[in-house]
Amino acid sequence: MIVAIDGPAGAGKSTVAKLIAAKLRYVYLDTGALYRAVAWKALATGTDTTSPNAMKRLCESTQLTIRHAEDGGMVVEVDGRRLTSEIRAPEVTRAAAQVAAIAEVRSWLLPIQQGFGRRKDVAGIVAEGRDLGTRVFPEAPVKFFFKADLEERARRRHQELMTAGKVNASDLSETSRALDARDGQDQSRDVSPLRPAEDAEVIDTTSLTAEEVVEHMLSTIERKAAAHQ
Ligand code: C5P
Repeated sequence: MIVAIDGPAGAGKSTVAKLIAAKLRYVYLDTGALYRAVAWKALATGTDTTSPNAMKRLCESTQLTIRHAEDGGMVVEVDGRRLTSEIRAPEVTRAAAQVAAIAEVRSWLLPIQQGFGRRKDVAGIVAEGRDLGTRVFPEAPVKFFFKADLEERARRRHQELMTAGKVNASDLSETSRALDARDGQDQSRDVSPLRPAEDAEVIDTTSLTAEEVVEHMLSTIERKAAAHQ
């Protein structure tokens, strides 16, 4: 069983995907972490994050490994180095949206993600990102697309960054601007732009708690899983 969740930043995808994975004992696939890991290596090696040729070479010389963390989360290793909070830094976030617009990067990451989806040793996977329902797992029996007002998404992201000690309270408007700019890039790129799959259920999470979203999704998953068997 593959549950695909797409949507803009701050719509609640990661929080909810981890809760669903824990409840159903599925594994969690954070595809944004893969783009972030590629962007992190590009910045660390001084590679031009807007150059398709340079990024293609970088990808082809990279060993990317996905590991599961004890807490149900996911950790990426690049060339044997375990990446955690460094891929959440604002400059990596900006670079991730740049490298994600490059077709060569997307096609290099595609089989890595799809290989994960073919795993037979797990009951199911909950994958989240921008193009899971449209490109990576178009055959997924359960697809959701989250949306939420920009103000609420910025508030959530700002809270996360503050908890991680990455911004101070006065930076909310900057967080909102950065989020909006990144969504604009993700929606307007030529390759796999952010948009709901035709068969995705759209959920507006603006005024819902994570638990409310999870409860609703679990009933959909149960229904679709029964129909799928
Ligand atoms: O989800 P997260 O914010 O970690 O993703 C970082 C960036 O990676 C996004 O802004 C987007 O540009 C890119 N991304 C993507 N396709 C995915 C997941 C992430 O283009 N499936």
